[in-house]
Amino acid sequence: MKILVTGGLGFIGSHTVVELQNEGFEVIIIDDCSNSSEDVLDGITTITGQTPLYEKIDLKEKDKVEDFFKRHQDVQGVIHFAASKAVGESVEEPLLYYENNIGTLVYILKELAQKNKASFIFSSSCTVYGQADEMPITENAPVKVAESPYGNTKQMGEEIIADTCKVTPSLNAIALRYFNPMGAHPSIEIGELPTGVPQNLVPFITQTGMGMRAELSVFGDDYPTLDGTAVRDYIYVVDLAKAHVIALKRLLESKNDDNYEVFNVGTGTGSSVLEVIQSFEKVSGEKLNYKIVARRAGDITSAYADTTKANTVLGWKSEYNLDQAMKSAWEWEQKIRK
Ligand code: WQD
Repeated sequence: MKILVTGGLGFIGSHTVVELQNEGFEVIIIDDCSNSSEDVLDGITTITGQTPLYEKIDLKEKDKVEDFFKRHQDVQGVIHFAASKAVGESVEEPLLYYENNIGTLVYILKELAQKNKASFIFSSSCTVYGQADEMPITENAPVKVAESPYGNTKQMGEEIIADTCKVTPSLNAIALRYFNPMGAHPSIEIGELPTGVPQNLVPFITQTGMGMRAELSVFGDDYPTLDGTAVRDYIYVVDLAKAHVIALKRLLESKNDDNYEVFNVGTGTGSSVLEVIQSFEKVSGEKLNYKIVARRAGDITSAYADTTKANTVLGWKSEYNLDQAMKSAWEWEQKIRK
């Protein structure tokens, strides 16, 4: 059973490759290494003892995508991570995001639609909800007007898949709406490798803990939350990776209720920025330098998942809490900076 993982050298992709191999799947990775490194293959091999097949392909090149699927007719499922994902950059370079995130999705779906049966897992995001009206957020919460082209590509991606599945009974798809992924594999052989100044909170915290950054700027403490700082649902990357394998198996074993399904993938618990800082200080034993500054444009107050559907229908539940995930993030940061 050969599974294609696009973006498989990336943060969530590499952790998912490990879990796929643990479940006995043969994995082939496509990655253009625009935001990842081939060294990640070594980390995966160290963990599982198996080196996944790998091809460096730019999925924006349609003929290369067609050629790949001709050469690998035995690919039965695709987990599609490959996409640009920097919210701020997407505002500055919208066409780069629409070409890379939408164009490549269309090319892959066109190939899968030609197969007798195909299973497709899409990397979506809670960002599609914008600031949801009610917490926790269920899959029935309305999709709001996207705050960024990045968020729009996730919304459009879901619609493109839904429309395609409607007229392609042989194509079975699941969109997983991630909340905030964090942490590193317990082996600390793979983890998050942000390029440049981290945009996301957790890598900025661990880099500050290592002295690479002078201090963390907390973007606002005047939100209507318990301590005034914004709330998110921080999910351990290995829990998230396992959700992909469970979702894929659901499709391969034809256990899905519909040929397009959506699941929130979060812990169900909201944590404020200050609580994340406290978690870091607890697991590291170090005081974190931070200062409160103005809110970041486009940020929402609060987002955490209602995980009922994932728990009961998908049969998946997160197992790690914030401190355990933070411990792995800190150990990883210390290792890569040595
Ligand atoms: C978390 C909280 C910030 C940095 C984004 C994308 C989402 C997904 C995850 C890709 C917020 C605060 C952050 C800092 C801070 N990406 N913060 N100081 O914005 O919830 O989600 O990343 O799929 O689609 O939108 O994550 O980690 O950037 O921020 O105070 O230096 O930490 O204001 O409240 P976010 P984040």
